[in-house]
Amino acid sequence: MKLSRRVTVLGTTFVSLAAFVGWLSAADASRAPAPEAVARTRKQVKMLDDLYKTAVVLITKHYVEGKQAASAGTAAKLIFKEMKAKGHHDVELLDVTGQPYNEENVANDDFEKEAIKQLKAGKSFVEQVVSKDGKDYFRAATPIPVVLDKCIQCHENYRDVKAGAPIGALVYTLPIE
Ligand code: HEC
Repeated sequence: MKLSRRVTVLGTTFVSLAAFVGWLSAADASRAPAPEAVARTRKQVKMLDDLYKTAVVLITKHYVEGKQAASAGTAAKLIFKEMKAKGHHDVELLDVTGQPYNEENVANDDFEKEAIKQLKAGKSFVEQVVSKDGKDYFRAATPIPVVLDKCIQCHENYRDVKAGAPIGALVYTLPIE
C-alpha cells in the first residue's frame, strides 16, 4: 500500500517535471527572436564591420604620420562611444595578442573570451543571440588582421604575429528588431 503510494507520488512528480520542462522549452521557443530578424541584424553587423574597418585602414593610410599622431584606433573608439550614446549599437575594439596598447581593450565577458579563442583558431565570424531584461540582442565578433606595415609603428608586438592571424577583434552588440 505504502509502496504504491510512493510510486504514485513519484509518477506525479515525474509528470509535473516533464510538464515543467515542456513549458520551459515552449516558453523559450516563443521568446526566441524570429530567424528573419536575426538574419537582418547579422546583415547589419556585416555592413558596419566593413564600414568601420575600411574607415580605420583609410585613416591610418592617409592621415596617421608617426607615433605622435592620434591613432585610427582612438578615433574608432570615439565613434563607437558616440553610436552607443545615441542608442544605436555597441562596438568594442579588443586586443587578442595578450599585449594591448590600452589595458582597457581586453575581453571582459564570457562571449568575448570564447569568441577570441575561436577567432584565433581561424573563424571569421562568431555570433550569439542573448536576451537581457526581456530584450534580444545579437552579439558578433570579427577578427582584425595587420593590414598595413604602418600598424607596427605603434604596435611593436604585431611584428611577431603570423601574417593573416588576427591581432584584434571588433565585438558588436545590436538589438534584434
Ligand atoms: C599612431 C599609432 C597607432 C597606429 C599607427 C595604429 N595604432 Fe592601433 N592603437 C593605438 C592606440 C593609442 C590604441 C589605444 C586606443 C584607445 O584605447 O583609446 C590602439 C588600439 C588598437 C587596438 C585595440 C587593442 C589595443 O591594443 O589596445 C587594435 C586592435 C589596434 N589598435 C589595431 C591597429 C591596426 C590594425 C593598425 C593598422 C591599421 C593600428 N592599430 C595602427 C595606436 C596606433
